[in-house]
Amino acid sequence: MKLSKISTALFAGSLVAGSLATQVFAAPPAQKNPLADLPYANETDKGYNLEFDGTHYTTATATVNGKDIIYRAYEKIVYVANPVEPDYQTLNFYVPEEYYQGKDINGYNAKTAPIFLPNAIGGYMPAMAAVASQAGHGGKTSTILQALERGYVVASVGARGRTLKQGDTYTGKAPTVIVDLKSAVRYLHANDANMPGDANKIISNGTSAGGAMSALLGASGDSADYNRLLKDMGAVNASDAIFAVSAYCPITNLEHADAAYEWEFNGLHQYSRMDMSKLDAKSFNDRSMKQAVVEGELTADQINISDQLKAQFPDYLNSLQLKDSDGQALTLDKAGNGTFRHYVENALVQSANQALAGLTEEEKKAFMTKYKGLSYTNENVSAVNLAEFVTNKKRMKSPPAFDALDLSSGENDEFGTATVQALHFTPYSLKHSTVNGGMADAENIKLLNAMNYTDNSKAAPHWRIRVGSEDYDTSHAISAMLAVKLRMSGKNVDYALPWGVGHAGDYDLAELFDWIDGIAR
Ligand code: DHB
Repeated sequence: MKLSKISTALFAGSLVAGSLATQVFAAPPAQKNPLADLPYANETDKGYNLEFDGTHYTTATATVNGKDIIYRAYEKIVYVANPVEPDYQTLNFYVPEEYYQGKDINGYNAKTAPIFLPNAIGGYMPAMAAVASQAGHGGKTSTILQALERGYVVASVGARGRTLKQGDTYTGKAPTVIVDLKSAVRYLHANDANMPGDANKIISNGTSAGGAMSALLGASGDSADYNRLLKDMGAVNASDAIFAVSAYCPITNLEHADAAYEWEFNGLHQYSRMDMSKLDAKSFNDRSMKQAVVEGELTADQINISDQLKAQFPDYLNSLQLKDSDGQALTLDKAGNGTFRHYVENALVQSANQALAGLTEEEKKAFMTKYKGLSYTNENVSAVNLAEFVTNKKRMKSPPAFDALDLSSGENDEFGTATVQALHFTPYSLKHSTVNGGMADAENIKLLNAMNYTDNSKAAPHWRIRVGSEDYDTSHAISAMLAVKLRMSGKNVDYALPWGVGHAGDYDLAELFDWIDGIAR
């Protein structure tokens, strides 16, 4: 294991948990992956054995929410026969010990427990499977341990990412990340009879790029589009469909995200963003280091680009033919106004009122003077004006927010190939490229976008999507479009924009687990 690989994976974890826009990387000090020096659990003379070995585990104890729990850890299982990057194409499987004593936890037993499937992906970077004993963000008990305490079985999955390289060859560009997640799910289905937990109740979880991949995993279940790639990787021939998706702030629909961003943030000229160009593997590794934040103001050229991108959005939005739950068409006029904008504004109204309801009279008064763009009736928010609301903060990205004209974004890097570091993925940025950049393969772009699979009959039936009201990493339109499309195709969708929350995940695990119990028990 090369150290550089560890550092990028750890960085990804911090990116998931941190709020990029406000506090850069308030993460625990760099930890070495505790499994780094262990051999793969299932490597044999003949390659990787994809039959689960129930005898190969360690037992550990931990205190979670004041309670001692004992669990079995089956770690470092390579989930494909032909891994390219086995350190990443690995899952860690955790089971509450009580299930081996025939006991029930929270209404589940060894056969019926849901399988919680968190990925640790952030920034489209490579991510090793998270380890139960590793502390979560801010030193909190890991999500894995908290899930075990609820009685879930946990399959923590790793996946390749955009910066992996062997010699001159990139090994983790799109769509390898989703091929890996699907391979892990196939392993669980194929071994269901011999593994604790119910593979028909897999619930994936991820944040940001990891949220996008959680959504894509759920939407694209059993789609034949990925079969060749899965076969080449030596994935088991089994279902890759899952039961439910938890997605925090999914950075998805990348090919429309630039237009969506300017639809929401056009007119906001001050920005405060992380200086991606200053990030290298070394600075990733030192997570106590404050990353450079660049403050600035859009140039006249950038304002012009923002106007052009914003103007593209209504046509795309209208092409989706969205309807709300009352059957009302959600559309936009040429200026970007209309029922779809009201839909997003109403989601913010609900969120604000939920936040207000929990406040004291004094706190309510402070709230009511704090935010621009909110109107009140009595002590309730009656309306949000999105254009005004967004001025409560600086924008986080300069246009184009995702497909950078100089190929400098993480998403450009994600769409590279084995031999090309970065590519464009929108016609606009291809046309205006300042570095004569090439275009990503249309199939790869398609395979990475959950929006292309919302009508899939094998898509997950249950969805929980959360995006903070103060998350400016992508437009709130992105998650709104996904949520509406899923609901229109008959999925059970719980969508909300929690108030005051920035770019973050796993901040409401008690509620997430209540939701899971509601669908899985
Ligand atoms: C992430 C954040 C971004 O702003 C982005 O463009 C891609 C990924 C993330 O936190 O994973």
